[in-house]
Amino acid sequence: MNAPEILQTSFPLPCGMTIPNRIVKSAMSENDADAGGRPSDRIIKLYETWGKSGAGILISGNVMMSKNALGEPHNVIVEDEKFLEALKQWADAAQKNGSHLWMQINHPGRQAPKFNKEVVSPSDVQLPMLNMFDQPRPLEEAEIWEIIEGFGQTALVAKKAGWKGVQIHGAHGYLVSQFLSTRTNLRADQWGGSIENRARFAIEIYKNMRSKVGSNFPIGIKINSADFQRGAFTEEESLQVIKMLADQGMDLIEVSGGTYEKAAMMGRKLKKSTQEREAYFADFIVKARAVTDAPLLLTGGFRTTSVMAKAIENKELDFVGIARPFAVNPFLANQIFEGKIQEVRAGNVNTGIKFIDKMGFMDTAWHTANMKRMGLGKAPNPKLSPLKVFLKFAWEHRK
Ligand SMILES: Cc1cc2nc3c(=O)[nH]c(=O)nc-3n(C[C@H](O)[C@H](O)[C@H](O)COP(=O)(O)O)c2cc1C
Repeated sequence: MNAPEILQTSFPLPCGMTIPNRIVKSAMSENDADAGGRPSDRIIKLYETWGKSGAGILISGNVMMSKNALGEPHNVIVEDEKFLEALKQWADAAQKNGSHLWMQINHPGRQAPKFNKEVVSPSDVQLPMLNMFDQPRPLEEAEIWEIIEGFGQTALVAKKAGWKGVQIHGAHGYLVSQFLSTRTNLRADQWGGSIENRARFAIEIYKNMRSKVGSNFPIGIKINSADFQRGAFTEEESLQVIKMLADQGMDLIEVSGGTYEKAAMMGRKLKKSTQEREAYFADFIVKARAVTDAPLLLTGGFRTTSVMAKAIENKELDFVGIARPFAVNPFLANQIFEGKIQEVRAGNVNTGIKFIDKMGFMDTAWHTANMKRMGLGKAPNPKLSPLKVFLKFAWEHRK
């Protein structure tokens, strides 16, 4: 089989759901909801476009499970059925050409900027970045169970709205990832200490969701291969957690890496050789495959169809995750299948001004700007001026 044929093969998940092909649009936060976290017409329009992409799975940007804990000011919030109609429209728009829409569900923990009233985390370890984040209050036992229940509720609403799967955001330094790391989790109770205790939060969320959505609905998780920080979640620990999650019956394990402090997920702060090679976490996924047969999805840096197909052919992974290139070319999966393109590209986000480019948010700001264009029914502009994007971003975030 050639690369487009390999990437087009369908794949059954443990729950029984079959995914039409191996290309997944990984989560990119839309940060474009209406007041109160209601999914906006712009978000629905964006997914109508991505629904024509040909991707097997479209994973939404992170949806917040509590209005009291937002990662960004305009996140979608799903606590209950208040936005059921809009969520149904979102699912219909995204799924009418055969893609499966999955909801990524998140709680930011300490990575909740100051506009949130209160910030909570496993322990009181503050995120030391630009004075943007308050010192978190350690969660009480009862609150931990409430959040677990909240994740489950959000998953149930997604199912009721016709979404075809959910993903727990367990990566990038957010709450689930804070529980996993000894840098942010200093607890001495059943939620801290050993890796079994630190993984308990993720596993209890999975169990709660499973009890609500039933045995034949896909549940996945995005997890870090490592946090890439001293004293934080390591590769060895990640492999142990992946095995534990797989043993529970997790349908899809997406591997990424890094936190706000070390944005390895975008290839930043990694060794130069790793940045230049495709698929930043390619070495890790081989180790993950050695510990589990659970379906694996790898995201971060995939750019050529030959490398994507080879990894699947070698059975190192089952799905390739692509994020930024989907904000530049929304139709890329079909173009790959038709043999029209052999390469996908992220945007050139550098302004050329060193201090801005070093700050590390241009990747997010520039690709979000193109997603917003698509939400307004316009085509993405691969030549969008990074400097203009920066100035607009700085103005909007001046507070
Ligand atoms: C604008 C933007 C928003 C993102 N939002 C999320 C998110 O909500 N959840 C998440 O897990 N990852 C998020 N990511 C990370 C991507 O899912 C992905 O891991 C990363 O971009 C690397 O993949 P790529 O090289 O194919 O872009 C975001 C990335 C970008 C550029």
